[in-house]
Amino acid sequence: MSATDTSEPNRRDFLYVATGMAGAVGAAAVAWPFIDQMRPDASTLAASSIEVDVSSLTPGMSLTVKWRGKPVFIRNRTPEEIKAAQEVPMADLKDPVARNANISSDAQATDIDRTAGEGKENWLVMVGVCTHLGCVPLGQQGDFGGWFCPCHGSHYDTAGRIRKGPAPENLHIPNFQFISDTTIRVG
Ligand code: FES
Repeated sequence: MSATDTSEPNRRDFLYVATGMAGAVGAAAVAWPFIDQMRPDASTLAASSIEVDVSSLTPGMSLTVKWRGKPVFIRNRTPEEIKAAQEVPMADLKDPVARNANISSDAQATDIDRTAGEGKENWLVMVGVCTHLGCVPLGQQGDFGGWFCPCHGSHYDTAGRIRKGPAPENLHIPNFQFISDTTIRVG
């Protein structure tokens, strides 16, 4: 799949959710293009955690779910994306902090510490809210092939780290864990 195939709006993700995932993901997690047009109701906002079946996400595919009123990006990264992120010198990072709620708050923003960890470093789970003023970045776009926020031009790399533009911090990583080989619990 090319980079353009996965750009927003992500048709494959949309079809994926529409044809098989909605039930498995649960009421609180549907495709962002849908929920972007709706106000979150109280029950959705109150949901402290959601469970997401990622079994159909092959490398290069992403899913956006809703958690506590915010979009959460779940991406199964390609080997090329992982390699690109691993090769970035730490000195090149604008924000050197991992911003990963699952590990120490002062952990460095290495590629592995931005992911689900050893053996699952292909999985990236991030709150899809630009750290500048809160727009929702677009996937697989921008100068670094990660995410691009069109509001004021912030570019994030394939580990969701801010590399260029006004955003001050890397995309935040929420508490999450794999509760089975194919299910991620967020929150
Ligand atoms: S809100 Fe993303 S660059 Fe300003």
